[in-house]
Amino acid sequence: MKNLDRRSFLKGIAITTAGVLSPAIADSKTYSSRTPTIKNPYSFFGIHQQGIATPPQKHIYFLVLDLHTNSRSDIKEVFKVWTTYASKLTLGENVAPYSKNTLIPALDTGEADSLNPYNLTLTFGVSVSFFDKLGLKSSRPKLLKDLPHFPRDQLREEFSGGDICIQACADDPQVAFHAVRNLVRIARLKVTMKWSQMGFNSYENNDTPRNLFAFKDGTVNPSANELDKVVWVKDGSWLDNGSYLVVRRVQMHLETWDRTHLKAQNDTFGRKRDSGAAYGKNEEFEEVDITAMPEDSHVFLAKTTGMQILRRSFSFASGIDPRTGQFDAGLLFIAFQKDPMQFIAIQNALGNIDKMNEYITNIGSGLFACFGGVSKKNGDYIGKSLLG
Ligand code: HEM
Repeated sequence: MKNLDRRSFLKGIAITTAGVLSPAIADSKTYSSRTPTIKNPYSFFGIHQQGIATPPQKHIYFLVLDLHTNSRSDIKEVFKVWTTYASKLTLGENVAPYSKNTLIPALDTGEADSLNPYNLTLTFGVSVSFFDKLGLKSSRPKLLKDLPHFPRDQLREEFSGGDICIQACADDPQVAFHAVRNLVRIARLKVTMKWSQMGFNSYENNDTPRNLFAFKDGTVNPSANELDKVVWVKDGSWLDNGSYLVVRRVQMHLETWDRTHLKAQNDTFGRKRDSGAAYGKNEEFEEVDITAMPEDSHVFLAKTTGMQILRRSFSFASGIDPRTGQFDAGLLFIAFQKDPMQFIAIQNALGNIDKMNEYITNIGSGLFACFGGVSKKNGDYIGKSLLG
């Protein structure tokens, strides 16, 4: 499709959906609005984007988009509308009120009507190719490079690459999906969908969720006062207060795992499946002593690198893998770090040695620079520091 100029783009937006940019629609009367009874503690505005240091919600809808334009001003408009939308959605509001006119498509897709925001967070990031396509190469941070090929990677085109990521997390799957659906809908002329993954985390109270290998996953993560050291970019650049997001779609071979005896399962991680305690310890949160663990265990190898990352992963179960007839299930591994090398060093250490490799295949991958947070003032919008 040929690129549209700014005028046609705005027109396109007005025709396709929202009233935000269309005076004709903006003054139409409303007949219904979404009124949440429970507040979302996570405002879209702040120093950092939410969905990074935010405690993981129960559901994720992760979407990767490709640009369908080379025009920076088009994308600027998209990001501005996304900011308006995201600020409403995270409040538990629809993206725009309904019109009285029932002969035009409703401005909001509506499936979250009468639902609370369920701790919705929306997190946006951009990849290497985003800079290439928009002629922004000189603004691309030196640290933002395509991830190297890792041992045993079997990446599939349908779960890799892409220019923009949107991470929607909420304690309700429909609220997360509704948000992404409406963000895509308004930008339809400028972006295409590349790949997506839904995921879930199940836990009672504040327990650590168990992944589909039944192990508590997320026990060791940086504490709140380590986030500046581990997660937030602090370099005065446009990415200040942002972070690098690594996503990996890791298929877990559940059938093989389920035929493995419990001791071998425990040895795989160097932790005990039931309590989550590290080898040589009794409680989940007791400090890890790697000398008590097998040297090919996942935790031994990860910890030996001395690197820290913020893991924020979700399980997925997406039907049946047509290649094997087995479950297409696994972990949508997501990690945030201030330098992608933190992840790269750990992934390389896991390399060929990690005992867990017998039970997993890495089939999707992506690296995205997630902007710093959006201020409520001065017409700020997501990505303004980069796009101006
Ligand atoms: C299917 C994929 C994976 C599964 C099932 C998995 C599972 C686990 C489990 C059960 C633990 C121990 C509990 C905890 O501290 O959370 C753990 C720890 C850890 N994992 Fe993974 N993991 C996976 C992939 C990865 C990847 C791709 C990386 C990074 C390259 C990674 C890095 C770590 C780190 C840094 C720790 C904490 C080690 C420490 O104690 O300091 N994991 N993982």
